[in-house]
Amino acid sequence: MKTYKIAVIKGDGIGPEIVDEAIKVLDAVAQKEGFNLEYNEYLLGGSAYDVFEDPAPEETIKGCLNSDAVLFGAIGGPKWDNLPKEKRPESGLLKLRKSLGLFANIRPAIIFDELINASTLKPEVIKGVDLVVVRELTGGIYFGEPRYKDSNKAYNTMIYTRDEIERIAHIAFKEAQKRNKKVTSVDKANVLEVSELWREVVNEVAQNYPDIELEHMYVDNAAMQLIRDPKQFDVILTGNIFGDILSDEASMIVGSIGLLPSASIGGKVGLFEPIHGSAPDIAGQGIANPIATILSAAMMLDYLGEHKGAKRIKEAIKSVLKEGYRTKDLAAFDAKEVVTTSEMGSLIAEHASN
Ligand code: IPM
Ligand code: MG
Repeated sequence: MKTYKIAVIKGDGIGPEIVDEAIKVLDAVAQKEGFNLEYNEYLLGGSAYDVFEDPAPEETIKGCLNSDAVLFGAIGGPKWDNLPKEKRPESGLLKLRKSLGLFANIRPAIIFDELINASTLKPEVIKGVDLVVVRELTGGIYFGEPRYKDSNKAYNTMIYTRDEIERIAHIAFKEAQKRNKKVTSVDKANVLEVSELWREVVNEVAQNYPDIELEHMYVDNAAMQLIRDPKQFDVILTGNIFGDILSDEASMIVGSIGLLPSASIGGKVGLFEPIHGSAPDIAGQGIANPIATILSAAMMLDYLGEHKGAKRIKEAIKSVLKEGYRTKDLAAFDAKEVVTTSEMGSLIAEHASN
């Protein structure tokens, strides 16, 4: 029987609760499809700082590198907000992404018809939306040097090299080939040199993909177009900080940030995490929505080549939503019954083993 080694990072806040539900569902699917998952837990973020005074301990990075994939919950919380930046949970996540070489972040916005009323946008605007943000994850202003701060002056540097732009552009075009054959590259080329280069290189890479339609859009316009008419997008290709912002925006098209998964790839092992944060205000209450993490687990199975298992998970989530089960965040949207985090996980696990 095939065995996959999964590094599990539950993290902070609601992280442990939602990851436990994803594991419940993964185990159900593994049994059904006849493969094995071997889990090893590692600390990252605030919980790692509490033990090691380091938000990204070496042991965690090594453990991840020695696995087939990483399943990740969420990190951060007010408890660690006043630490120096390099000790903060967020720095731990950035270091992990960089150490694993995860330069591509794939964030699909998936609409569930059952939850069409959960979005703040009108149903006719969002019905049929099917887009994915391909965000560069290990470069740009997040990592650029020099960076500096004193009490009178501070700066960061937005850098992209040709190689960095080329490799993320290839990922976006290949993604579009599997989808609706359109790439919208988002930049600020009317102001920034780094965006001028971005645009030139994306145009060059596009020559290899004559089947894909390419358009360029300034980031301010893209932010507006996403709300005005999200259906015009298929693959949005963009850099680190623009992708950070636009993917949160795209999540609201769907209605709940508790629904969206993500995959970070490009290195030796992929990392799979919900796009939402650690929600410390609701941690431990059993009300967090585990669906984004469970969908991330489905993306992980696709990545491992276990496509039938991934499909089982996605269909189970649809069935459970169709039957009217909702966690508290979605209680107002056609709920037949409001269930806890753990009940939601069990329902999805049950349906996935049918
Ligand atoms: C995300 C988060 C992170 C980011 C933070 C926690 C460092 O917002 O994954 O989008 O900015 O990349
Ligand atoms: Mg973000």
